[in-house]
Amino acid sequence: MTTSLEKAKPEVEVREQARARAASLSYSTGFGNEHSSEALLDALPVGRNTPQRVNYGLYTEMLSGTAFTELRANTHRTWLYRIRPSVVHPSFERIDNGTLLTPPFTDVPLEPNLLFWAPRPAPAAGTDFVSGLWTLGGNGDPVQRSGVAIHLYTADISMTDRVFSTADGELMIVPELGGLLIHTELGLLSVEPGSVALIPRAIKFRVEILGAAAGEGHAPAFVRGYVCENFGTPFALPELGFIGHGGMANPRDFRAPVAAYDDDTERPVEVIHKVGGNLWSSTYDHSPLDVVAWHGNSVPYVYNMLDFMVMGNVTVDHPDPSLLTALTSTTDTPGVGNVDFCVVPPRWVSGEDTFRPQYFHRNVSTEYAGVITELENPGGWVQGSSGLTNMMTPHGTGADVWEHAAQADTSVPEKVDGLFFLWETKLPIALTTQGAQAVGTTDDETLSGKNTLQSRFRP
Ligand SMILES: [Fe+2]
Repeated sequence: MTTSLEKAKPEVEVREQARARAASLSYSTGFGNEHSSEALLDALPVGRNTPQRVNYGLYTEMLSGTAFTELRANTHRTWLYRIRPSVVHPSFERIDNGTLLTPPFTDVPLEPNLLFWAPRPAPAAGTDFVSGLWTLGGNGDPVQRSGVAIHLYTADISMTDRVFSTADGELMIVPELGGLLIHTELGLLSVEPGSVALIPRAIKFRVEILGAAAGEGHAPAFVRGYVCENFGTPFALPELGFIGHGGMANPRDFRAPVAAYDDDTERPVEVIHKVGGNLWSSTYDHSPLDVVAWHGNSVPYVYNMLDFMVMGNVTVDHPDPSLLTALTSTTDTPGVGNVDFCVVPPRWVSGEDTFRPQYFHRNVSTEYAGVITELENPGGWVQGSSGLTNMMTPHGTGADVWEHAAQADTSVPEKVDGLFFLWETKLPIALTTQGAQAVGTTDDETLSGKNTLQSRFRP
């Protein structure tokens, strides 16, 4: 894929304006709320969803995220009031999928080793968010509405005249290098490293690169991050059970955009749409980001991972990583996620007479971990790197960490730094060929020194 339309403004100007706009954004808060917003006074109908005529000559359109007959508690849908309905578009034509791929992947056999990827290199000049999407692996099948794809992105130019959407899944975008201003049909989100964005299935959006904040000096030449395309049920907050009414990811910390439409809607815009794993392109004579008012609960969100309230042990033993679940895509089996999003922020660890780090383990689930802020002692897990332990792949700590934990004075709590996240999936992640070719070295240092552990057996 290439950028086919000439950009109206130089990139440096786009970034400057994006930064100014990001600084003045306001949000509507609360995960799962019935949000409503209007960019023009009285654009949003009151007391009915489909009035005979909508103010300002707007068209009514409904976007559903779940089946009409889904239980009310799980229903996702949003009513849009827009300048033109989405049905107004020239025909889409198939284009090359490039490096944006979709499971099922069958070319690369599953392997029992812990796999590691170094940060992605800088993109070729002129790469935007969509053309910079590069798929590492995935499972399931979007047509069956189950499984995930794991993409990584790099980009050095903003999408000013290009818009993307995927009918295959909901997107979770996790910037790791550089911030993004995401213009969605429902409004704008500013997403810096440390925060994640959620884009509901089929919501159109474009991504601008944020420039440097005042006093920050300069912004990185390119941006980089992780993307989970969730083919299953939309991400939801997990049940809290005996934790009670607060803790882990709190609903109020999720921010939805307020209505905002492209000021200049009468201009050529290339729309890239993904469905069934393939990309389609159409050049509109207007921006499809033309929603003036909306209400509903299928909305984009931004969430700061540092707002995650970590529950922990205060007596003995290390809890399961499921305690770090911020969001889960549920399946028909209660308690089993299609994919769980787990946050591992800086935190205090306690536990007396306890080996405090994660115990050695082999899981039936698959864990993909990405690093946002590296630990002081990274052992190869630098910012932008990632790792995969497919089902039953053994993992745990290296010798240095083991030694420290075994000798630590456990009467004193300890602060652990770094920020990383996990996507834990029910099914193993099959690699794409490009993902397999990019697997990093498997030397001891890279893998946290796990093979430096010696026998300590003294019968
Ligand atoms: Fe694990």
